[in-house]
Amino acid sequence: MLVEIRPVARLRGKTPLDVTTPLTAVLDTLRDGTVDLSRVRVVCDWIQYKANFRDVVDVRQIGPGTPGQMLEVAVDLRRAAACDVSDLTRQLLAQNGSPDTPARVWLEEWLPGSQGCLWSFNRLYWQALHLWERATGRGYESALPGGASDARNESAIRELISDLFRIWDDLSERRSLPEELYVVELGVGNGNQAKAWLDEFLVMDHKHGRDYYRRLHYLLCDYSPHVLDIARKNVSEHGDHVSSLVLDATTPTTVLGFLRYKVFLVYVSNVYDNLPCDEVVNIGGQAFCVETRAYLPAKDAEQIALTRKVDVSSLPALVHKLLQIGPDLLAEAMPTQFADADAAVTFWRDCWQALRRAERFIPMPGLDSYQITSTLSGEMLRPLLDAHGDLRINVNNGAVASFVDTLPLLHPYGRLVCHDLFITDVEQSRTGFRGPGKYDGSVVNWVNGPLLAHIGSRKGIDVRYEPFAHRKGTSIVTMTAQLRD
Ligand SMILES: C[S@@+](CC[C@H](N)C(=O)[O-])C[C@H]1O[C@@H](n2cnc3c(N)ncnc32)[C@H](O)[C@@H]1O
Repeated sequence: MLVEIRPVARLRGKTPLDVTTPLTAVLDTLRDGTVDLSRVRVVCDWIQYKANFRDVVDVRQIGPGTPGQMLEVAVDLRRAAACDVSDLTRQLLAQNGSPDTPARVWLEEWLPGSQGCLWSFNRLYWQALHLWERATGRGYESALPGGASDARNESAIRELISDLFRIWDDLSERRSLPEELYVVELGVGNGNQAKAWLDEFLVMDHKHGRDYYRRLHYLLCDYSPHVLDIARKNVSEHGDHVSSLVLDATTPTTVLGFLRYKVFLVYVSNVYDNLPCDEVVNIGGQAFCVETRAYLPAKDAEQIALTRKVDVSSLPALVHKLLQIGPDLLAEAMPTQFADADAAVTFWRDCWQALRRAERFIPMPGLDSYQITSTLSGEMLRPLLDAHGDLRINVNNGAVASFVDTLPLLHPYGRLVCHDLFITDVEQSRTGFRGPGKYDGSVVNWVNGPLLAHIGSRKGIDVRYEPFAHRKGTSIVTMTAQLRD
């Protein structure tokens, strides 16, 4: 039996984590003879997100569901002290990792993580942000690391603009500076960052005296027309210098193809961690795809159904209807269940709060049988998986797709700059929980920096990571990608 304790940093210090009590509870329960102990892994995490998609204990099938099934027992040490870990483990083991339990109302079939309905919830959040924020009275930024987007940190912005001026001055001296100076932002949120950036640009350009502002085109891009609307209003003073485009950040060239090799700065903050993500686990030299299946715990489902006077069995269809048409139309379509849009938003929030994901590990016949994106094979994961033994990593398929499809837009002296929750060393996946976490209505997954760096290097792109230099104690890292010199 293998026992893996991931949050090693919490095992020391003034108030070290109590691993012994929950671990003993699990091990004692495992002794009851129902499972083959040589085929069990026990994995202890410390899930820093108060809201997340996991129960305190989870039992997962590893490989095909056959007799002698390999199992993983996963424990969240942060919440374990408040629970009867033995009892939870016993109940789950009684099912031998089998998902067929009356305690769960399933919302979908088993799917790779990136394809689950979690992402439809995430999308709906951004599409109908105004309704959610009206209900909670909180803006989305309050959930971001530090309670505000680092993207509008002024000294970070000044540094970026100074770098741009340096490049433009240099090109200008060589008579190679194009007339139009393009900057693209993907995933703009409320536009606060764009406003801070443009305001600062105007001031700095005035001092610099080269009249770059006159030639500047700032493109606000987002997949939510609603979010774009807010952002556009926020930067209205900058008039014709700003355009807004509805696009999916995972396929920017579909809309921005006309800017191939023309963009000097592509700016992305707190977006890569919000894009669909698979996970891959390496156990004993074999790679497994983590399949997930969303459910509502039966207790919560009953409560939610009771409040709306619907049958529990009709909840999955109702949830999918909400995800498809949104709360406004749902209220119109089902006035008996939902008096108005606010009632439909309450339903949405209740489901989100209760939402969980079960996991199982499906063997991958070979890394090349797996696609990270439609153009990138799973072989790209090999250097990460081969060098680090047993490991679970985020594939961040959406972020990889976005990264790869952004590179063709860059001017030879252009840059892609991202502020986000990146891991910069694969070992960080072994020693910390990297998502998914549940924010207010949206999802967060740490981004696999070494994977992007590896993919970049194959494409002649230099990818650098630096801790975000402008706010102390932040987990945000800045990635800069540009053509290798
Ligand atoms: C967490 S907010 C970050 C906003 C802003 N950049 C900041 O730092 O405050 C994520 C933004 O990305 C957008 N977004 C998420 N997934 C997207 C996708 N697939 N395509 C385009 N935009 C997306 C959301 O609509 C939202 O505006």
